[in-house]
Amino acid sequence: MKILVTGGAGYIGSHTCIELLENGHDIVVVDNFSNSKPEVIDKIKEISGKDFSFYELDLCDKDALEEVFKKEQIEAAIHFAGYKAVGESVKKPLMYYQNNLLSTLVLCELLAKYDCKKLVFSSSATVYGSPDHLPITEDFPLSTTNPYGTTKLMIEQILKDLHISDPTWDIVILRYFNPIGAHESGFIGESPNNIPNNLMPYIVKVANKELPELGIFGDDYETKDGTGVRDYIHVCDLAHGHLLALNKLNDHAIHYYNLGTGNGYSVLDLVETFKRVNNIDVPYTIKDRRPGDIAACYADPSKAQKELGFVAERTLDDMCKSAWNFILKNK
Ligand code: UD1
Repeated sequence: MKILVTGGAGYIGSHTCIELLENGHDIVVVDNFSNSKPEVIDKIKEISGKDFSFYELDLCDKDALEEVFKKEQIEAAIHFAGYKAVGESVKKPLMYYQNNLLSTLVLCELLAKYDCKKLVFSSSATVYGSPDHLPITEDFPLSTTNPYGTTKLMIEQILKDLHISDPTWDIVILRYFNPIGAHESGFIGESPNNIPNNLMPYIVKVANKELPELGIFGDDYETKDGTGVRDYIHVCDLAHGHLLALNKLNDHAIHYYNLGTGNGYSVLDLVETFKRVNNIDVPYTIKDRRPGDIAACYADPSKAQKELGFVAERTLDDMCKSAWNFILKNK
């Protein structure tokens, strides 16, 4: 299938491009490098040994995107592009709503116009808000705590309404838990441009002595060691989930899947595992809780397992090793 990948130079997008190319799909990548680097495109080609078309453009620019649809015989899209920093979204809500919503509207309009109404959308476990109990299944009530999360939930609603209006659409909504780690080659991984907000990129920068120490946001949660618990999933397992999701774009339905491992690990589990497998120190201090954080969050991944055949195979050790390997290879 010829798949348009929006945000294909980004962290999850780039790993998914490799997975698609290695499994016989053609891809057309669009990205404006707002939070990624041009060299990632060459690295995807190098790792996969395959070539593909790339267009540097802003998805909100409908004319520019339409040129891509005119040139390429797009059959489906995987939509990764979007702003994703929670704190920034609180400070700049209009920028988040403008970019994340408008780009999705433009994309859907063109998918409909060029009669390729097949879409996989990158959503997030953030749409479950503060869950009442665990593990989280897809039918849990939805709510959000910040504008970034609200853009994900609003886009889910837009896609639901779109499907009601025209049931010939095939839509898969993937709700990611916490992707970490990097491709085994060490050529691509997560490299935020500024001081990281998320845990693993922060640990990596402390281990690499770019930052003095990790602040652990709270050790008084009702969890096994008091620190926050999350469902960390290897980004390559997550990428594989997208490949499997393409198989569901054939029954004119809208599907929702959690992509997680089903395991909850604490902040201290992650830090200690990282130190052990990489034989490196990660100094930390306990700080206050971060506003908006929840104690624990992990998936019930059984629906994705049953309907997609999705099983996250890589362990926490693999995630920590690969994240550090990416840094070592790029020093
Ligand atoms: C965050 C976002 C979520 C988004 C996801 C992926 C919030 C509230 N949620 O999830 O909407 O989909 O990233 O981008 O930001 N931690 C520390 N020290 C740090 C960083 C994190 O102790 O320097 C802790 C957190 O308190 C949490 C865990 O590590 O318990 C994971 O945090 P993080 O990696 O930021 O992910 P989430 O908050 O789960």
